[in-house]
Parts: sequence; C-alpha cells; structure tokens
Amino acid sequence: MTTLVEGRRDVADAVEETARALAAGGAPNARGEAREIVARAGRFLRAAVDLRGREPWTAAAEAARGALVARRLAGWPLAYLLGEWDFRDTTLTVTPDVLIPRPETEELFDRVERAFGAMAPRRAADIGTGAGGLAIALARRWPTTRVTAVDIAPAALAVARWNARRWGVENRVEFIQGDLTAGLSPASQDAIVANLPYVAEGDWVSLSPEVRREPRAALLAGADGLALFRRFAPGAATALAPGGRVFLEVGRGQADAVAGLLTAAGLRDVWTDKDFAGVDRFVGGAR
Ligand SMILES: C[S@@+](CC[C@H](N)C(=O)[O-])C[C@H]1O[C@@H](n2cnc3c(N)ncnc32)[C@H](O)[C@@H]1O
Repeated sequence: MTTLVEGRRDVADAVEETARALAAGGAPNARGEAREIVARAGRFLRAAVDLRGREPWTAAAEAARGALVARRLAGWPLAYLLGEWDFRDTTLTVTPDVLIPRPETEELFDRVERAFGAMAPRRAADIGTGAGGLAIALARRWPTTRVTAVDIAPAALAVARWNARRWGVENRVEFIQGDLTAGLSPASQDAIVANLPYVAEGDWVSLSPEVRREPRAALLAGADGLALFRRFAPGAATALAPGGRVFLEVGRGQADAVAGLLTAAGLRDVWTDKDFAGVDRFVGGAR
C-alpha cells in the first residue's frame, strides 16, 4: 500500500491515496474525481495528471489536497470544490449559488440546435439561467442572436454574468432579474429555453445529500413539482413571436402534464422526447 510520506510521495501516489479515500467514502467515480482533485491541488491541468505522475508531490499541494478531500467526504459536490464544471464546449464557473449543469441540459440544447440549424433565432431567452450555460450556448452558437438570460436569484445572475464575460458573449446577453417570462416583451422571442425547478417539495428529503447542497430555489417547485411550469406556460405563449418555439427540460413522469400545460396555453405542435437514459425529459411546442 502506498502511503504519502514526506519526501517520497509523487503525483501518482497522491492520486492513489485520494482515490482510496474517496472510494472508502462511497464516491462512485473515485479515480476520476481523484485525478480532478490532485490536478486542482497541484495546480496543473487535469490532462497532465498522468504525464506528471513521477513528479514530487509538494507539501503545499498536499495541504490543498487534504482540504479538498475533507470537503468532498463531507458531502460537497466535486463541482463546487473545483469551482467550475463543463457544459458542452464551455467550462463554467459554479458556486453553491447555482445548480451544477447536468448532461440532460446539454441534450436540451442539442434539440434547440437541431430545430434552428442555420436559421439563427433573432431573439432567444433562457429562463432560470443559473450558471448561464444555455444562454451562453445560444450566444455562441448563433452570433447574431440577441439573448436574454433571466433568473429570480441575483446571486445566480452574478455567476451567469461572470460566465458570459468569461466566454466573451457579455455584450450579446441581456441579464434580467425577475420572475419567469415577466420581463420579456410580448411576441418578442423566437426561442425560449428553460430548465426550471421541477422537484416536488416532499421529495427534498429523498434527494442525495450532495444534491441538497445545491440551492433549494433551483430545485423545488411546489407540492407536485409543476408549480413553475403552470405559470411559465401562459407567460411563454405570450412572449413567443409567431412561429417561435419553446424547449423545456422536465422531471421524470412530468412530460405529459407539461405538454398539457403548453397545449392549454395555446401552443401548437407540442412534443415530448426522451433523454439518453430513455426518460421522457424534454417538452416543447410552437406558437
Ligand atoms: C434547475 S436550475 C437551472 C439552472 C440552469 N439553467 C441549468 O440548467 O443548469 C433553475 C433556475 O431557475 C431559477 N428560478 C427559480 N424560480 C424562478 C423564477 N420564478 N423565475 C426565474 N428563475 C427562477 C433558479 O434560481 C435556478 O437558477
């Protein structure tokens, strides 16, 4: 067994030790996370961890590693420890003020991209932008599109703004602190995308401790998880330009109900679609 003894440890030892500690703590991807933590503690790129395996592991790096492992074992999500997380082809700053971007939301954007293709939406809105991933993806994919990013939480908007600057699109994204589509002009948007909170309040206790480190206001949506969609559907129908389209991510078992809400709001061509795991996860429609 490798032990980290001052003077003899190297980067590969640090990875081993970290992976063992995380596995003992129940982390599902202990080795992958260990490489991330060691890269962060050693202040080098993730991709360099293996290349630098035989380099000495310094006392300063070891102190940083110990602090990161302790917080991870205390239940903090890796993304918050690293302070950034990938969303599609961008790396976003993330803090405990924002939801950690999920792969399903990348898939949601794939659908937007397929629907518009080379026909850039003139105006597009991301409702409940969080760290800003969808808004930034819209601005990067279609450089002529005027994007509006809305969030009710000022702290989340600050992170999204920072990320827009980080990716050089701050001049093409307008940030609005507000409730759902209230800040959008009627008939203004060719695309509205949203990954709104959709967890029923009673399900909070059954979420993993890690997920419960994410903001409650980013996850919870009333007694049945549909509270935000009920208010969103008529607002989106008003804010969409004729021919404009809406794209939503929803919780397991909610797709039919949300499709019904879009239909009741007067949208046409309402559809549902599955995610990579086969769950009915996406709902959309057109005005
Ligand atoms: C599930 S998170 C999604 C974050 C980001 N779009 C993503 O996919 O990673 C939902 C976001 O909606 C915001 N939110 C909650 N209620 C809202 C409301 N009434 N109006 C606007 N945003 C809201 C939360 O602050 C949170 O940032």
